[in-house]
This record gives sequence, C-alpha cells and structure tokens, in this order.
Amino acid sequence: MTPVLGSPSEFQWGVATAAFQIEGATGEDGRGVSVWDTFCREPGRIRDGHHADVACDHYHRWPEDLDLIAGLGANAYRFSIAWPRVQPDGSGPVNTKGLDFYDRLVDGLAERGLNATATLFHWDLPQPLEDAGGWLNRDTAARFAEYAAIVAERLADRVALWITLNEPTVVMAYGYAFGVHAPGRALMLGALPVAHHQLLGHGLAVEALRGAGARSIGITNNYTPGQPASDRPEDATATEAFDNLLNWQFTDPLLRGGYPDLGAELPHVRDGDLAVVSAPIDVLGVNYYNPVGIAAPAEGDVLPFTMTEVPGSPPVTGMGWPVVPEALHRLLTTLKSRYGDALPPIQITESGCSYDEALDDRPRIDYLSAHVDAVRAAMHDGVDVRGYYVWSLLDNFEWAEGYHPRFGLVHVDYATQRRTPRTSYAWYRDLIAASGPDGRPRTASIPARGHADDAGERVAE
Ligand code: FCB
Repeated sequence: MTPVLGSPSEFQWGVATAAFQIEGATGEDGRGVSVWDTFCREPGRIRDGHHADVACDHYHRWPEDLDLIAGLGANAYRFSIAWPRVQPDGSGPVNTKGLDFYDRLVDGLAERGLNATATLFHWDLPQPLEDAGGWLNRDTAARFAEYAAIVAERLADRVALWITLNEPTVVMAYGYAFGVHAPGRALMLGALPVAHHQLLGHGLAVEALRGAGARSIGITNNYTPGQPASDRPEDATATEAFDNLLNWQFTDPLLRGGYPDLGAELPHVRDGDLAVVSAPIDVLGVNYYNPVGIAAPAEGDVLPFTMTEVPGSPPVTGMGWPVVPEALHRLLTTLKSRYGDALPPIQITESGCSYDEALDDRPRIDYLSAHVDAVRAAMHDGVDVRGYYVWSLLDNFEWAEGYHPRFGLVHVDYATQRRTPRTSYAWYRDLIAASGPDGRPRTASIPARGHADDAGERVAE
C-alpha cells in the first residue's frame, strides 16, 4: 500500500462528487436505506420520477473513474461516504462490507497519487434516524459523531482532509424548511434546530475524528450571497436577514462562537453547545455557485425576505443560476474581513455549472475559468485559498432535478455507462499543468528553448 499523503503542502486541484449522486448499488453489500432513497420513491418529488438506484454505477466502476481524475493531473479527489453503507441503521452495528468499499477507494487514490478529501455527510441520512426526527432530533448529532469515529478508525491513516458536513444550510432550507429535498419537511423557520443540530454534530465529530487520528478537518458550507434587489433600505435590511439565516448562521458559530441575529429565539441551543461547535478546524470548505437577489418581504410573508432575480440580468447556466464570478471574489474577501485571524485556510470544495449534453462545452470552460480567476484575485488580495474542486467529475443524479442537469467534465451515457471527457476536461487538465504549487499560474518568462511547462518546472524549484 502506498504511504499516506496527508497535510498536503501544494495547492489542491481536484474534482468533487457525492456518494448518492454517483454510486448506485443502493441495495448491495448490506447498504441501508437513506432519506434520499425514500424521497425518490415518493411520487412527484423528483423530476420525471428519476431515482439513484444505478446512477453512474460508480460503486462498480470506481477504478475507471479514479483513472479519469488521475488523467487530469489533479492531486485531490473529494468524495463522500454513504452513512447507510457504513451503519445501515444510523446507529449500532457496522456493515464491514460498506467500509471495505471506501477502503479500496482510498487505496486506489493513494496508488494514483491523489489526496483523499472525504466528506462524511452529503445528505444521505439513514432512514431510521429520520424516522426518529432526523436533524430535528438533537440525538442525531451524537449518532453522527459515533459514525465519524467508526469511519476514521478505518481510514484516518489515508485520508488527507475530512469534511464533516456538506452544506448544512441546504439541508436546513431545502430539506426541512421548503421541503423540496429529502426529507421533504416544509417547516419554514421551524427548521432552525436542524441548523444547530448539524453544527453540534460537526463539533462532536471534530472531537471524534481527532481522537481517531485525523490529520486535517473542515466543514463545507454553501454560500449564496444575497444582493439587494434595489437601493431601497428595506431591501438592504432583507438582504442582511437573508445572509444571517442562510450564510452566517453556518459560519459565525464555528468561527465566532455565537449565532448572528436570526430574528428568532433559539431554545434548542444549550449551555456549552457553542464551545463544542467552535472547536478549531483546519480548513473552511467553500462551495459557491451563484448569488441571489433579495427584496423586502411581501405583506404576510413568513420569512423576512423575498428571493428574486439578481440585479443586472447576468447570464444564467442550464440550472437557471446567474453567472457572477465577482460575487465569489467578494465572498472570499468578505470571509476574510468578517472573521480575520479566526478564518482558517479555505478550500473551494465545489465550483461548477450545468449546461446541455454537448461534449464541446465552451460555456463551462468560460464559467470555470472566470471562477478560477475570481479565486486567484482573492488570493492576490490576501485570502488564503489552498484548493479548488470542480463540481463535478461526472454528470450525475442532481437531486430533485434527476439526471437532467449535466455538471460533468465527463459526459455519462446512462444507457451504457460510457464516460466521455468533454472539452472542459482537457481545459482543466491544461490549467492544472500550467499552475504552480501555490495554485497560481506559472509566470516564468518565455524559456530560451522548450515550452512553457519546462519554464513552470523551473519556477517550482
Ligand atoms: C451543491 C451540492 C452538490 C451538487 C451541486 C450542484 O449544492 O453540494 O451535491 O448538487 O450543488
């Protein structure tokens, strides 16, 4: 077995995926049922009734997929571990065959010289835990820490970076407030305990992971910056309320040890919880896709804001998401000014877009290169960014949208499972090759002979 990579000193160029979106094999090797399996079975929840029973069949095709990542010249791969594979009931007995799969995967990564960035929870909560209240139930936080310890006991020697949770804001908002993701609860502000219990689970997991020898630990937040729809002061106030609820609620407790003003009582926050939540982390994972326009709420609205178009009519992706790379630059510099020295190094754990099926995907190249530029501009402004992962390696199961969106650098033909790299795959490979160990472009002057790559090597020395 190849020795551990870990504590990487070079900028991490990678791709990201998530278990439920690519693995398939939902009934194999003792895997339990997740909330997303259940949600997919409920009529009308997923576009065209799609489900993820097969998805990209990554559970069987992972060597080919890891070869594709290695072919990019990437040095990191962010994947997620399916809790129901490891602990089918979300507590109690461990399913060894499930752990064996991830063991093979991290060995496969090491063999290809790729750092493993492992996310412990990318939304596939074991159904029995949901039946007991899911993230509304404080006990789920403790169950999560137990599961984290089980996985780390087995894999900590080979995982370079642990990400506890993926996008707890999306779980709260889409899963429990608006009901458009699993588990489909539409509780609006009644979903606030879901935020705290996930953050508590994160804090308890940090402790468990450290105890099991984890080297580097972070959490991944999704940031959707609010942009006031107009100059009206009411829109500015609404934008602040939006940012507090959807963005800062998931970062202030980690880095400042307290919640921002959420306009609500938080009786579920107990004495001592915030000390657990704010346990030091090594990395802040930042996912960014787009900003959102925010206006004052209409008469009778439950929430203190209305989501609307982003001002200025920017172009949109296949998801209809506005393309605003400057908002990523602004987000990164805002994180730095808001948290100062408490801000750990950042890794951009997801950045990407969906367009149509085309193999020659110029719009994706434009999107990605503008967002990489935004990250580099923020680094130039003093923000410590140490990694960038494209979402996603493959076209995959995009939650409530099923297989319609196409986010992959690699096209997947779902009928045959054939993988075909798109033009953006070659573009990303070239970008990585042309970047120095700090992630910035290699800037050597033109070499006397040979080509640009040679010059880069000299700079790196
Ligand atoms: C993020 C999710 C990821 C994927 C992208 C498009 O919010 O983390 O699983 O669906 O959006």
